[in-house]
Amino acid sequence: MKVLVTGASGFVGSHTVKALVEAGHQVRAAARSAHRIRRALRPHGCADAVETVEVDLTSREPVVRALTGCDAVVHTAAVHSFDARRRPELHAINVRSTDLVLGSAYGLGLNPIVHVSSFTALLPAAQSLTASSPVGDPPVPCGRSKALAEWIARRWQLAGAPVTIVTPGMVWGPHDPACGESTLLARSVLQGRLPFRLPGVVPVVDVRDLAAVHVAVLSAGVAPRRYLAVAETPAMAEIQRLVAAAGGGSPARLAVPAPVLSAAGRLADLLQRMLPVRLTFGREGTWTALHCPPGADASATTADLGVTFRSAAESVLDTVRWLIGSTEQGPLREEAA
Ligand SMILES: NC(=O)c1ccc[n+]([C@@H]2O[C@H](COP(=O)([O-])OP(=O)(O)OC[C@H]3O[C@@H](n4cnc5c(N)ncnc54)[C@H](OP(=O)(O)O)[C@@H]3O)[C@@H](O)[C@H]2O)c1
Repeated sequence: MKVLVTGASGFVGSHTVKALVEAGHQVRAAARSAHRIRRALRPHGCADAVETVEVDLTSREPVVRALTGCDAVVHTAAVHSFDARRRPELHAINVRSTDLVLGSAYGLGLNPIVHVSSFTALLPAAQSLTASSPVGDPPVPCGRSKALAEWIARRWQLAGAPVTIVTPGMVWGPHDPACGESTLLARSVLQGRLPFRLPGVVPVVDVRDLAAVHVAVLSAGVAPRRYLAVAETPAMAEIQRLVAAAGGGSPARLAVPAPVLSAAGRLADLLQRMLPVRLTFGREGTWTALHCPPGADASATTADLGVTFRSAAESVLDTVRWLIGSTEQGPLREEAA
């Protein structure tokens, strides 16, 4: 199949490109900068094996051009960031571009059309997350934009479009070119910048397993469907402990009541808007972890697609090994500079 991967310069997109190339697909890799795509694909050894296309997904014409000639699309592009400074971008790319990409792909007859959603679109949730969990109503900006995108994807499914929705947990693993939320958290723990224990829980998936799900939904062929991509749902404090242990450090011991952390998160967001550097901590991360249910059931994904999920411990360990040993972008050194 010829597959367009949007967000190919990003964490999920670059791993997805690699997995698709390895599975024998022809890949057209899209993002706003061909340079960033090649940089993201270089560690995977597939930068020269794909066609790259520079496209801003906020306008219809370039979206249609990028999709034309492809059999299928994996739409990973989004602003997946809790950074208060990026709020103005959220609606345009996460919501409007999703409608543009899915609608245009349907119009051009692509099948399947894979939309990468997020567990945050299903929050708050009282019960374990599954692929059939209802869309949530998160009062936080990134989560809200992903919930709106989820509505759009489900609406296209109802209209008969062959849309497969893949819903990942928080994505961990090596080679994160854009230093996303999991890399940021790991780096902050390793650098001793999170002296207190974070509250709540979060569903976790390894980026390599998520990429395997994207390959599997292409070869399985029948849409519309929804799949959850989650290995397990550890406590945030357990993730901090795993990162610290992998880096040879000791875990944060200070316990702060959740309401105090929520208030501190709001204050951090206000500060963040004025600061040139990214803060580790803010309201959205705290709200998200406090409103995740303590479990998620992705057994249907394994049963249908044959994809199994490595443990959160393995995924976190590989993330930390990469962070410490990386010569790619020097993720640890970059922030220290
Ligand atoms: N990371 C996680 O923990 C996590 C958890 C749950 C769900 N997800 C979902 O997984 C998907 C991928 O996330 P990620 O972590 O891989 O994000 P990422 O590393 O930040 O990558 C985002 C990608 O989107 C592209 N993009 C952003 N704005 C664009 C625009 N206007 N036009 C074209 N491309 C644009 C970026 O390309 P350029 O900036 O180079 O153009 C980049 O390739 C998202 O849908 C996200 O919501 C991620």
